[in-house]
Amino acid sequence: TLVALLFGGRSSEHSISCATAGGVLHAIDRERFDVIPIGITGEGSFVLEDDDPAKFAIDADAMPRVLDNGTRIRWPDKVGDRTLTVELADGTSRSLGEVDVVFPILHGRFGEDGTVQGMLELLGLPFVGSGVLASALGMDKHFTKTVLLQAGIEVAPWTTVSARQWAQSPILVAERASGLGLPAFVKPARAGSSVGVSRITDWSQLAEAMEVALAEDDKVLIEEGIVGREVECGVLEGRDGGPTRVSVAGEVVMTDRAFYDFDAKYLDAPGIELVCPAAMSDEQLATMQSIAATAFEAIGGAGLARVDFFLTENGFVVNELNTMPGFTPISMFPACWIATGLSYPQLIDELIDLALP
Ligand code: DAL
Ligand code: MG
Repeated sequence: TLVALLFGGRSSEHSISCATAGGVLHAIDRERFDVIPIGITGEGSFVLEDDDPAKFAIDADAMPRVLDNGTRIRWPDKVGDRTLTVELADGTSRSLGEVDVVFPILHGRFGEDGTVQGMLELLGLPFVGSGVLASALGMDKHFTKTVLLQAGIEVAPWTTVSARQWAQSPILVAERASGLGLPAFVKPARAGSSVGVSRITDWSQLAEAMEVALAEDDKVLIEEGIVGREVECGVLEGRDGGPTRVSVAGEVVMTDRAFYDFDAKYLDAPGIELVCPAAMSDEQLATMQSIAATAFEAIGGAGLARVDFFLTENGFVVNELNTMPGFTPISMFPACWIATGLSYPQLIDELIDLALP
């Protein structure tokens, strides 16, 4: 089975996607799969990358990136043709073979948001994960919350602000936001890994937080901070039309940090510990799993997702849903499945099996 692994991309989570790809390149069953590593540069060129997991390890001083090496991937030009071609820097080209499935292990915009999924659907190539609509919904925190609310799932109170509304009247925006409790989080609507997210404890900090978020997206959410434990679980689409599968819960335990920011997620900053499985009663776990499955189905998800929650005194609140969660060997999504009984290589097998026609 020939797998095209797509990673990198134009989003602010480019390096995280590279790290995830490194994990997959390292662990994928080479007896079963041949892999074409395809990097997408920060400018959006598709290049043939090295099949070298070590090249994409996370390092705080030199985050992994896809660089333009002068090669270009050429996608098939008609539906039914699955042959990928690479044009080399010297102008010659060669076939990379007939791809069976594409694994777009891309985080953030132009990757996790339905755009790449649309391209693959247009080309008629099978791919891992959600299609256009669920990817677009999962990427946009405003619409994720709107759909989850409609499905009867509790979410944090929020207000959405456009760049234009902010430019016209910061005072009106602040008035609207002041109905929310503090601390509050100010987040770009379509970003991930906490890039552009600020936690504010006083409304006088709103303007600066808005600037940071608006640098990522022209749509921003101001959200009431929820008091509770941060717990997450992995979702896998059901096999052969069977029920949606949900892993045990993992927990982000904050010992000495205000929130689970980018440095804590990837750069080993102190004050955070990932615990899996999380301590909770069987009843709590069952409730959480049922909400996660409902959330996945509400957005029309396929393949996989990670659902992030707060466990409050009054029950579960869903923070968000990620249709292509971080998937490095130390990430929460594989950790939750490992604790449920699927190894990292088995999880990759499972994701590809779900995508194969
Ligand atoms: N957006 C990051 C990769 C995550 O959700 O894990
Ligand atoms: Mg996220």
